[in-house]
Amino acid sequence: MKNIAIFASGRGSNFNAILKKQKNGKINGEIVCVISDCSQPIVFKKAESNNIPTHTINIKQFKTGEEYTNFLIAILEKYKIDLIILAGFLKLIPSPIVKKYKNKIINIHPALLPNFGGKGFYGKKVHKAVIESGIKITGITIHFVDEHYDTGNIILQEKIEVLPNDTDETLALRVLELEHKFYPEVVKAICDNQIKIDNKKIIWER
Ligand code: GAR
Repeated sequence: MKNIAIFASGRGSNFNAILKKQKNGKINGEIVCVISDCSQPIVFKKAESNNIPTHTINIKQFKTGEEYTNFLIAILEKYKIDLIILAGFLKLIPSPIVKKYKNKIINIHPALLPNFGGKGFYGKKVHKAVIESGIKITGITIHFVDEHYDTGNIILQEKIEVLPNDTDETLALRVLELEHKFYPEVVKAICDNQIKIDNKKIIWER
């Protein structure tokens, strides 16, 4: 059983989707804490109603980046975390944590990377940019996390069509459906040790 930390700062719909699969006994792991840089994100209410501890960790509370990183590591060690899942967490993960948890941190992005990614590309902003660009296909990318925004090795991409009358809201809803279907599946696959890493190539042995 892997101990899972969810890093999230928003409404927590991906947290819910993963928790649902866990509760159905499909994931060989357990969400043992939720961490956010916000003080009262909606996702905390969802976690607390499921008796999952929550922690707010804001870099501004610390004198140095090193103190922030060490505090975060202390929490991860306290819960003996094996897998970190970013689900709407928009802060860069400090480099020592990326190194310590190499290939143990994953993120979901609501577009087909490497397009429409990078700092500042999150949520509706992504869908707005997709629509304005005129491209016809978008989707989701689930990837390992490295020291940069949205550049880690890709585990899975799934695509959907951008419809002529899509708005950022309608597109976001359809992309979110994909997220809820595939993010829990990838988490399950990682917990079942089905994801093999061959340099930049990630192979899913089903
Ligand atoms: C999701 O759509 C996720 O793809 C996005 O934040 C949302 C979180 O929703 N992440 C990014 O844009 C990362 N660049 P949720 O809180 O309902 O899970």
